[in-house]
Amino acid sequence: MAASSAARQFFITKPPEVCSQDSMTKDILEGLRHKQKYIPSKYFYDSVGSELFEQICELPEYYQTRTELKLLSEHATQIVRGFGHGNLVELGSGSNRKIRILLDAIEPSSLSALYYMPVDICSAAIAKSSAELRQLFPLLNVEPLVADFTRSLNVVKGNSPKLILFFGSTIGNFNQDETSSFIKNVANRMNPCDRLLVGLDMVKPVHILEAAYNDSLGLTARFNKNILRAINREMGANFQLDIFEHCSYFNEQHEQIEMHLRATKDTLVLLSGIGASIMIRSGETIRTEICRKFRRSGAEDMFDQAGMRIDRWYTDPKGWFSIVEVVLA
Ligand code: AVI
Repeated sequence: MAASSAARQFFITKPPEVCSQDSMTKDILEGLRHKQKYIPSKYFYDSVGSELFEQICELPEYYQTRTELKLLSEHATQIVRGFGHGNLVELGSGSNRKIRILLDAIEPSSLSALYYMPVDICSAAIAKSSAELRQLFPLLNVEPLVADFTRSLNVVKGNSPKLILFFGSTIGNFNQDETSSFIKNVANRMNPCDRLLVGLDMVKPVHILEAAYNDSLGLTARFNKNILRAINREMGANFQLDIFEHCSYFNEQHEQIEMHLRATKDTLVLLSGIGASIMIRSGETIRTEICRKFRRSGAEDMFDQAGMRIDRWYTDPKGWFSIVEVVLA
């Protein structure tokens, strides 16, 4: 893979199948026809949703981002030690705040031998963050990719050594089956010299977890409802946002936050783009997200089952958030 011309400067690869209407139709119909109605959380991230999420990351209640940033700053030198060439693949890259910390810790003369491949479903977010990064690190090769990595991990490509980054505890937005197939797929694309860096939000007192998803400014509620606006726009649906209320709570049994939208009256939703309709009864909820929380032993088992092991474990003094460095076992 050769670092080439200025023509690449504003080129963002977007495989045609990635966000196709067909796959969205299938996802939405399957979810809304399920006994517990749900909408896959990846549909939060249109340009408005991505921007709202960035604002959530700044909230005092949302401890996750600042704790992870602090851990990265404290351990960046150790994390990138010996990583002077190769590929940095960031899944769900969003803004570039986290990668900047790692890049700052890399010897500047090595940057021209490095390829940074941010992968995100939101083209607006990835365009903005890639342009900023090119300004800050002109020597770095930035190769953004708009893709739904929950559908295909072909995005994890390029020569070794690779450092695959999956920050923010986004792994917690997968259910158990999705998590194990995701980890196995990543493992299949790794060589012995590659590393996977994963952010994990840990189990902690319920009031702290619930406050993080019920902030006092109501940003999380807006983020939650925005998913209906995205479905209205993309599928010609007529969800009335004002009859749904934001609801999120910790499910103790599954050790996960669940975000839902609860209908406050009966409503018949038309999806005119595909000629379908869905009845939603008053009090019924649409689950929009699960955010699984982790324990150390569970995390070790999770990687162990995919033939990987945690090589280094970084956590804050309260043990609220962890970054793990994972390698093939
Ligand atoms: C992206 N993901 C890790 C966030 C989380 O905490 O699960 C999404 C989010 N949902 C509500 N607030 C933030």
